[in-house]
Amino acid sequence: MSDRLKEKAANLFAARFGSAPQGVSFAPGRVNLIGEHVDYNDGLVLPMPVREGTAAAWSKGDVDRFEVVAADFGQEDRFPLAPEKPGTIDWRSYVRGMIVSCGLARSGLRMVITGDLSRGSGLSSSASLCIAVGRALADAVGADPGPADLAKAAQRTEHEWAGVACGIMDQMAVAAGQAGHAMLLDCRDLSFEQREVPQDWAVAVTESGVSRGLVDGEYNTRRRQCEAAAAALGIGSLRDASVHQVEASALDGVTRQRALHVVAEIARTRAAAAALAARDLAAFGEILRAGHASLRDLFEVSVPAVDTVVDELQQAIGPMGGARMTGGGFGGAVVAVFEAGRMADLERASGRTFLRVH
Ligand code: GLA
Repeated sequence: MSDRLKEKAANLFAARFGSAPQGVSFAPGRVNLIGEHVDYNDGLVLPMPVREGTAAAWSKGDVDRFEVVAADFGQEDRFPLAPEKPGTIDWRSYVRGMIVSCGLARSGLRMVITGDLSRGSGLSSSASLCIAVGRALADAVGADPGPADLAKAAQRTEHEWAGVACGIMDQMAVAAGQAGHAMLLDCRDLSFEQREVPQDWAVAVTESGVSRGLVDGEYNTRRRQCEAAAAALGIGSLRDASVHQVEASALDGVTRQRALHVVAEIARTRAAAAALAARDLAAFGEILRAGHASLRDLFEVSVPAVDTVVDELQQAIGPMGGARMTGGGFGGAVVAVFEAGRMADLERASGRTFLRVH
C-alpha cells in the first residue's frame, strides 16, 4: 500500500516539476484500539498504524522558498523558509506549521503530497500529513530525528497552527507505529512497547458516514473539563486519580462523569494490553464494548449514527471480539476486532465495507 502511494507521489512530482524527486517519505494513519481521550490526561493508549497514509515526494529547489503541491486538492502553496500562518486553517497550515515546528528548513524544497486516508474519518490524516512532511524535511537535510521529536513537532503544529489542543497519541502512533502491532504508549513519558496482534485476530475499520470536526466539536471543552477535574482533585493529571477518589469527591455531575471515564479507560487500556498478550479475544471484545459505553454515556463524544453502527457490529460479532468508536468522536470511524476469516461474513451481515487494518 505505502509503496504504491510513494510511487504515485513520485510520478506526480515528475509530472509537475519535470524531474524525478530526490526522495519520497511516507507516514501511515492510525486507529486506536482502546484508551480514548486519555492521552491529554497522561494516560495509556493502544493505537496501531493502518496501511493507508500520506506520501510526500521532494527535491531541494534552486530557490530559497517552498513550492508544495497538495495533489489530492489540486492546490499549490508557495512560501518563504519562515512561513506565516495562512488565512484559513487547511492543509497549508499543517505543512507550513511542520516546517516551522521542526526547525529543519535549510533551503527551499519542492514537494508533492498525496494520501489515501479519507479526511474526517478519525484515522489521523492530519498527523499522517505532518509526520510525512517532517520525514521529508529531515531527509532533505540528512537529519534523523527520533519519533518523539517528530511527534512533538506535529503536536505543536496541531496546537499552534490548527487550533486543536490534541494529545500526543496520534502523532506518536504515526511516527513510531509498527505494522501488525498495537503500541502500548504511556503518554506521560512517551515510553512504549509494541505488542504483536495475533494472526488469528482481524482488526478492521468502517466509517460511520458522519464526518467529524475536532475544532467545531467539543474536543477542547472535554480537555478543559478534565483539567478542571484534576485541579479540583488537587493532582497534576487524571492519570493519578482513582475511581474511589473521583466518587468520593465534590466534583459536579458532568465533571465527575468525565473524570470517571478517564480513570476507568486507563484501566481498560492496561487490561486490553494484557488480553492481547494472553490472546484472549473474548476479554478484549468485552473491554471494547465497555469503552464504547463509557464514551457514549460518560464522556458524551459519540453520536447516534456511530452508536447504531457499533451496536450492529457488536451483535454481528458476538462474544468473540467487539467494536467501538475510535478517535476523538463526534462521528468518524468505528473499529472492530474479531476472529480472522470472518471479514466477508461480517461485511455481508452488516451491509458495511471494512478497511482491513490487520
Ligand atoms: C484525537 C486527538 C488525540 C486523542 C483522541 C481521543 O484523535 O488528536 O490526541 O485525544 O482524539 O483519544
